[in-house]
Amino acid sequence: MKSTIEFLKMKQVGEKIAMVTAYDYSQAKLAEKAGIDMILVGDSLGMVVLGYDSTIPVTISDMIHHTKAVKRGAQDTFIVTDLPFMSYHISKEEALRTAGKMMQEGGAHAVKLEGGGEVIDIIQALSNAGVPVMAHLGLTPQSAGVLGGYKVQAKTAEQATELMKDAKQCEVAGAFALVLECIPHQLAQKIAYQLRIPVIGIGAGSKTDGQVLVFHDVVTFGVERVPKFVKSFADVNREVLHGLNDYIREVKAGHFPKGSKHTFSMEQEELTSLEK
Ligand code: KIV
Ligand code: NA
Repeated sequence: MKSTIEFLKMKQVGEKIAMVTAYDYSQAKLAEKAGIDMILVGDSLGMVVLGYDSTIPVTISDMIHHTKAVKRGAQDTFIVTDLPFMSYHISKEEALRTAGKMMQEGGAHAVKLEGGGEVIDIIQALSNAGVPVMAHLGLTPQSAGVLGGYKVQAKTAEQATELMKDAKQCEVAGAFALVLECIPHQLAQKIAYQLRIPVIGIGAGSKTDGQVLVFHDVVTFGVERVPKFVKSFADVNREVLHGLNDYIREVKAGHFPKGSKHTFSMEQEELTSLEK
């Protein structure tokens, strides 16, 4: 299993970090088998797995429940779990307690939280307490309500300057890595260059130290429309629909199960006594 030190080394030697989300045992098992560097139990859980229309309804216990499943599927992969909405803003104490649960109960190796300025103290407190923190700036979905939706962030020089300042503060506060979501590629490149810690991009161009995408987006699983920054690398929807359609057809037609292949039988002798 790779550690935070190894992610730092990967950045230093220019080896890209490939990260993907996972929310359950089977997804985690596949991600590990494929050789992913790091798994994120993202609160995108709320949308792609639980069917909510944002990440806001996701609870601490949802995150623990799914982190435990991921952990059972990927025992040899570094796991980061998202701190959900309003579980780390109220106080440092609450943030520490939430993060502690993710690690002790869930089995996460690190936590991720969204925001700069307003949560820098929280990042510091968690890092001081021994919790590896991944910061997350740019489009921060938990604040979509304030940002006015899901759109590209920091397109002006002023906003970009602010973001660069936040990024630096995350590093100084002790974050071991930073996610940059949906920002201009030029800005992401600058930040990745300025920071010592690995910068993982999503919709942030090719010059970051790694990439992260949502599992369901990568393999087109369940999702119908995906953001511009997503590339679909497989079509699970098509495969699953194909399989289910065939199954339904064969059940209705009486073609499944048929013959001895998927069927159990009883010895003739036993059957005769049964019929008496
Ligand atoms: O919840 C999530 O999936 C995320 C990543 C997309 C960065 O936060
Ligand atoms: Na998230």
